[in-house]
Amino acid sequence: MEGRRVSDSSLTTSYVMMPEDANPAGNVHGGVIMKHIDTTAGVVAFRHCRSNAVTASIDSIEFHYPVFVGDLLTLKACINLAGKSSMEIGVRVETENLLTGEVKHTASAYLTFVALDKAGRPTPIPKLIFDTEEQARRNREALRRRDVRLAQRAREG
Ligand SMILES: CC(C)(COP(=O)(O)OP(=O)(O)OC[C@H]1O[C@@H](n2cnc3c(N)ncnc32)[C@H](O)[C@@H]1OP(=O)(O)O)[C@@H](O)C(=O)NCCC(=O)NCCS
Repeated sequence: MEGRRVSDSSLTTSYVMMPEDANPAGNVHGGVIMKHIDTTAGVVAFRHCRSNAVTASIDSIEFHYPVFVGDLLTLKACINLAGKSSMEIGVRVETENLLTGEVKHTASAYLTFVALDKAGRPTPIPKLIFDTEEQARRNREALRRRDVRLAQRAREG
């Protein structure tokens, strides 16, 4: 199977936050942002493996700043690691106040997706090709996070 480059699947998406995304005070629900994170990461995973892929786990997410109705939410997502059938996708979420132009780093998330064959079983995926030192650094960090996840799963049985 031919390898794929990080840039082959990377994705940036933006959404204007609307009243239905928020509570009556105008604060956007965390779950709305999490859904955008999951959807954006899913597209990256599909692009890398070109098969069905499901979310196996999401590492803990912290929201550093509130997001309000009218803000522009931008999600920058790329694949950090390709295992046998699993992929770690990193998503950086930024919020732009469209009136002032101020941009804030709202959250970052790491998700693991698993590629599935037509019978719903984990299936092999293409190897990952790195073109930049930054991509290689992200891969080294992702390998460490995967070790932590595997150790945690082993402890939980
Ligand atoms: C994710 C899922 C396919 C894993 O199935 P499984 O039979 O346990 O898979 P395996 O133990 O053979 O592991 C397959 C790969 O997934 C990885 N994996 C499995 N569970 C994981 C988890 N909780 N977190 C991170 N990676 C996980 C393994 O490390 C392995 O990676 P590798 O192939 O790159 O080495 C299965 O648990 C599942 O279908 N879960 C539901 C997913 C879903 O529907 N998500 C949407 C929200 S409901």
